Amino acid sequence: SSEHCSYKYEDYEKTADWLRKETVQRPKVAIICGTGLGGLADMLENRVVFPYKEIPNFPQSTVQGHAGQLVFGELQGKQCVCMQGRFHFYEGYNLATVTYPVRVFSRLGVETLIVTNAAGGLNDNFKVGDIMLIKDHINIPGFAGLNPLCGHNDERLGARFPCMSNAYDKDLSRLAQEIAEEQECSSLIQQGVYCMVGGPNFETIAECRALKLLGADAVGMSTVPEVIVAHHCGLRVFGLSLITNKVVSDYDCHETASHVEVLETTEMRTDVLKRLVGKLLVKIYNF
Ligand code: 6GU
Repeated sequence: SSEHCSYKYEDYEKTADWLRKETVQRPKVAIICGTGLGGLADMLENRVVFPYKEIPNFPQSTVQGHAGQLVFGELQGKQCVCMQGRFHFYEGYNLATVTYPVRVFSRLGVETLIVTNAAGGLNDNFKVGDIMLIKDHINIPGFAGLNPLCGHNDERLGARFPCMSNAYDKDLSRLAQEIAEEQECSSLIQQGVYCMVGGPNFETIAECRALKLLGADAVGMSTVPEVIVAHHCGLRVFGLSLITNKVVSDYDCHETASHVEVLETTEMRTDVLKRLVGKLLVKIYNF
């Protein structure tokens, strides 16, 4: 229906065909870099970079500070494509647009999606700077009917009623845990449930309390639409949240969530995350 902006199979194909002509790289892994985590793409060698505006059919980024480009490259000979700058629902994109790149990756032959984000910590045991391996999610916009799979379903892309209880690959999560132990950063590793809210404002105290009651460990404004679409089209998914700040859930607390704190924490953990994700990328190919 017209209220669900949608793309056609051919639209994804057109973008994928163009990329296949422009680069000989054929990555099996794609990475979506979260806020402040665009540096993940900088670790790649033999980089081929496409600003989003040069890619046919690709959504355009409008926000400043987001690079807005697709970076193909390799690490120890293992190929990867990174989104440096993602599309957020709160910027005004519809969910078909937010998730457009994921289906392009799938058409390109990508088999595994790594998603990263900056998130607020709801779990009292979490500290700022912790890295949460996402084991499950809660799609709050989905409760209100905002789901990227709404509208006509093209069976070539995936099933009408996909299962979502196994969206996050347990083996990849275990692999990440092992790498963290090798890297001696396992004291930073947590596991938990990521909850997506629409944003752009941070939560009220009452909202934070409600999300805790729902069983969420971290809250953010991204990732869930991309994961739903990735799982729908059969990609293996690994997700991690960098806990950039603690949420405010107490009326006596005078601290407030801020974007500055989010960026400070991503800066502080960039190197650890580069190592973790880099090793994971290489190990996925030997999996
Ligand atoms: Cl506290 N809330 C939300 N919704 N997103 C965030 C966050 C908080 N911290 C980082 N991203």
